[in-house]
Amino acid sequence: MSQVYWAYHMITETVDLGAIPKNWTRRHLLGLEELSADEITAVLDAAQRFRDAMDAGHKKIPLLAGKTCVNLFFEDSTRTRISFSLAVRRLGADAVDFSAATSSLSKGETVIDTAKNLEAMGIDAVIVRHRTPGTPHLLAQNLGCSVINAGDGPHEHPTQGLLDILTIRQRRGNLAGLTVALIGDIAHSRTARSNIWGLKKLGAHVIVCGPSTLVSPRWAEVGIEYSYNLDDILPRVDVLNLLRIQFERQTTRPFPSVREYAHLYAMNRQRMARAKKDILVLAPGPINRGVEISPDVADGPHSAILEQVTNGLAVRMAVLCLLMGTK
Ligand code: NCD
Repeated sequence: MSQVYWAYHMITETVDLGAIPKNWTRRHLLGLEELSADEITAVLDAAQRFRDAMDAGHKKIPLLAGKTCVNLFFEDSTRTRISFSLAVRRLGADAVDFSAATSSLSKGETVIDTAKNLEAMGIDAVIVRHRTPGTPHLLAQNLGCSVINAGDGPHEHPTQGLLDILTIRQRRGNLAGLTVALIGDIAHSRTARSNIWGLKKLGAHVIVCGPSTLVSPRWAEVGIEYSYNLDDILPRVDVLNLLRIQFERQTTRPFPSVREYAHLYAMNRQRMARAKKDILVLAPGPINRGVEISPDVADGPHSAILEQVTNGLAVRMAVLCLLMGTK
């Protein structure tokens, strides 16, 4: 009997978390591209249980008491870092924050050596964000503990994809048959990639839309629709995910001005009037008001942006439990 099943079982006296999926074997979460539809559904189901428990007032669910997780963030973060720290603490484990700026990286130590030294102190999981795609994969190959990708450059951000999909599932039920459009900087967005793989596996129709400099027609080769014209696709979209323009990753200017971008792609009151009546609006945050979204849409009745943040905590609790209980 696995550790998590035992812990889940023990906790059922106070919180009904159900049973861990019997065939769950993963120790790392590196991306949604390599997860099966069943595995994604298993995480979503577990996350929903945690969300229900949170809503019922259970703040601490100490399934991981005695474990220690390190937040190894080499890139800026507000939501993801705090959400992971909170998730670790609410599960009764210890969270340690690593700051790249004040670490021995400035003395020439490699990321692998840094992580191995942390592991030598008895770490059970490393939550890593790095600007280089593949860094979490490299750590997973070199460390004995669990590795969770909290964003590797423009590649993947699996917990963001999962929390976006959980939010859609809560509002719309089944993902199959829904049309979900990702708008903006598809080329540099790890949120886009994790959403694309996760949504596609669960049967949604995915459209990527933005300026032609940021949306590759090659997405069509893997069954993803692409468009350069938001107004064309808008009437048939059920869910919009508005991505930030990732200026920090761009080497050339992808469009003449932010004003022109906003004119063509910002979700605003005028566009809402032409969208489906029950359209759901998501954004991973940080949002740039007036660029990809107008304030009235961000704060309006169709927006689930803060709901996504709450779901992020539930998703990260589920991921930590599933991965760390399968050692
Ligand atoms: C995203 C990220 O860092 O990739 N934000 C997040 O994790 N909430 C998206 C972004 O930075 O725009």
